[in-house]
Amino acid sequence: MTLIAPVATAAATTAGLWFIPLLVATVSFYQYDKKDPEGRPYDAKVIHKYYDFIVIGSGSAGAVVASRLSEQPNWNILLLEAGGDETTISDVPVLAAYLQLSDLDWQYKTEPQPTACLGFNDKRCSWPRGKVLGGSSVLNYMLYVRGNRRDYDSWKQMGNYGWGYDDVLPYFIKSEDNRNPYLAQTPYHGVGGYLTVQEAPYKTPLATAFIEGGIELGYENRDGNGAFQTGFMLSQATIRRGSRCSTAKAFLRPARMRENLHIAMHSHVMQILIDPGTRQAYAVKFERKGKIYIIQATKEIVLSAGSVNTPQLLMLSGIGPAEHLKELNIPVIANLRVGDNLQDHIAAAGMVFTLEQPVSMVQSRFENLPSILRYALFDSGPLTVPGGVEGLAWVNTKYANHSDDWPDIEFHFVSGTPAADGGVQIRRVHGVTDFVWDRYYAPIAYHDTWYVIPMLLRPKSVGYIRLASADPYDKPLIFPNYLVDDQDVRVLIEGVKIGLALGETAAFKKFGSKFWTQPFPGCEHLPLWEDEYWACFIRHYSATIYHPTGTAKMGPIGDPTAVVDPELRVYGVHNLRVVDCSIMPNVPSGNTNAPAIMVGEKGADLIKSFWLNIASQNI
Ligand SMILES: Cc1cc2nc3c(=O)[nH]c(=O)nc-3n(C[C@H](O)[C@H](O)[C@H](O)COP(=O)(O)OP(=O)(O)OC[C@H]3O[C@@H](n4cnc5c(N)ncnc54)[C@H](O)[C@@H]3O)c2cc1C
Ligand SMILES: *[C@@H]1O[C@H](CO)[C@@H](O)[C@H](O)[C@H]1NC(C)=O
Repeated sequence: MTLIAPVATAAATTAGLWFIPLLVATVSFYQYDKKDPEGRPYDAKVIHKYYDFIVIGSGSAGAVVASRLSEQPNWNILLLEAGGDETTISDVPVLAAYLQLSDLDWQYKTEPQPTACLGFNDKRCSWPRGKVLGGSSVLNYMLYVRGNRRDYDSWKQMGNYGWGYDDVLPYFIKSEDNRNPYLAQTPYHGVGGYLTVQEAPYKTPLATAFIEGGIELGYENRDGNGAFQTGFMLSQATIRRGSRCSTAKAFLRPARMRENLHIAMHSHVMQILIDPGTRQAYAVKFERKGKIYIIQATKEIVLSAGSVNTPQLLMLSGIGPAEHLKELNIPVIANLRVGDNLQDHIAAAGMVFTLEQPVSMVQSRFENLPSILRYALFDSGPLTVPGGVEGLAWVNTKYANHSDDWPDIEFHFVSGTPAADGGVQIRRVHGVTDFVWDRYYAPIAYHDTWYVIPMLLRPKSVGYIRLASADPYDKPLIFPNYLVDDQDVRVLIEGVKIGLALGETAAFKKFGSKFWTQPFPGCEHLPLWEDEYWACFIRHYSATIYHPTGTAKMGPIGDPTAVVDPELRVYGVHNLRVVDCSIMPNVPSGNTNAPAIMVGEKGADLIKSFWLNIASQNI
């Protein structure tokens, strides 16, 4: 019962609904233990003065690193996490967006964007990031996507040995417990790993329409994580028994009885201490429940704070662009291009199709007692749909080589729209202006609708992150530079057109699907449905798909833009590695949770082979 009260009040103030308290109470009553057979990790009561390894951040990658390193019984590991544990609400797949702007979220916003996010308050895009055990794997939409073979092959071609597709595929498979027997038997998937991957146990009739529509357009229905990426598929997701399978659940709960792994939640890391003479990273300074700790690492410090906080912590510790650090009076330990090379996936998220039949995920149709009971008792029903995203596809615009398997757009298919919840959640978390809401979405609030979100797979526009000040509690400044390169807009325009074509297929028409022809507020002055109009439309409802990467880039010796080497060691500093999305030289052509987990698996192996090798030489 202790869990129920804070969660229920937090949710009630955000959503103002009876639904959340009822859901929490019902789930807790029926099956709290059934949902959670592994038991939750313990929050460390005692913290030692020394550990072999200190891992900063328990997110998609950090949880994996801590879990794998603690497999060595003679190594002591301290895992530091700024947030607390997961909640009953964060377990419910369809409620993913409810977690944004809550205590589980760092609640970042980009700097105002002159070329994107124009339909949002102050022209800023919201940048949620998980501040909770499991990190962004607790806030995410659970879509399990690895990217394209070529992504990793190109990392290798840049000089990053050990990172080609054939090198990393075994690490994707190592984590995985795929519950779909048709996928599990292929050479691309694994069973028996810590991370459960499955399709949602429930689907609307529109999910089938999406696949059929794709076939009508000439695409295949295939596993986009398999031999080829191009095509349409039902969403594969990190869910287990109908609820979210975060990396905390997957990798930390099974390790909770290990005495050599201390997990300290509510521990806000302020700085990594580095000896300016020897350039050894030797300790971590953090604040926990009002007390400041300085704890030493005798082997290594592993930074896994994610693509925003990792560059922030590096810069606070004296690793970053010298000119920027000097401005803030931070002594420079290593002059590296930290915070640069920020790549993210931007998408055209304003498309709307209305339906004549009641087949979509309208809020009142899934936020009710029967669906709560289906979820609580049978691990099924509409609450198990990952963030409402029922299907994924990889398609080719006219700019892509159609005879190749190198699609330039990914579709997220949602059997609802921001209108489907009447503006309670999606409008709020995206920060949609009243001007846009009143004119575009309000007339169709709570109606049956659906949309595809065409996402640009390989953006040319690149941004950067800088410190706002030397105060570790100040949010860093985020400049994503979305859509500054016109080619990014041109590709997205073609993506929107393929989306429109999908809406015209017989598969969708049979449900009375119609494109919502209300001109987008702010773009009414442009010739409707021409490229100029679509460009405006894309620049207004430009949503991040939450994949910031690359801010502590991996590259070989001699690459002036690299921050870490191909073994993830920070250049010019000893005993410090970065293991998370920030090391990715380019954003993969897909969603980034599975790749972050892969980086965690591979990073842990690099650390193990280094230290076990030294140990065997000493004997
Ligand atoms: C809303 C949302 C939806 C998404 N949907 C999907 C999806 O459906 N599929 C997909 O593949 N990807 C998705 N992503 C992206 C994916 O979840 C992330 O790319 C991935 O989780 C990043 O992993 P990471 O290990 O790099 O960082 P994170 O998982 O963000 O982990 C960083 C951790 O470090 C902690 N930390 C940071 N700073 C400090 C500090 N100073 N002291 C202590 N601890 C600190 C954080 O609290 C956090 O736990 C989504 C992301 C979001 C936010
Ligand atoms: C398109 O891809 C095919 C198959 O990989 C390749 O043979 C061909 O050369 C490519 N065409 C162009 C113009 O790059």
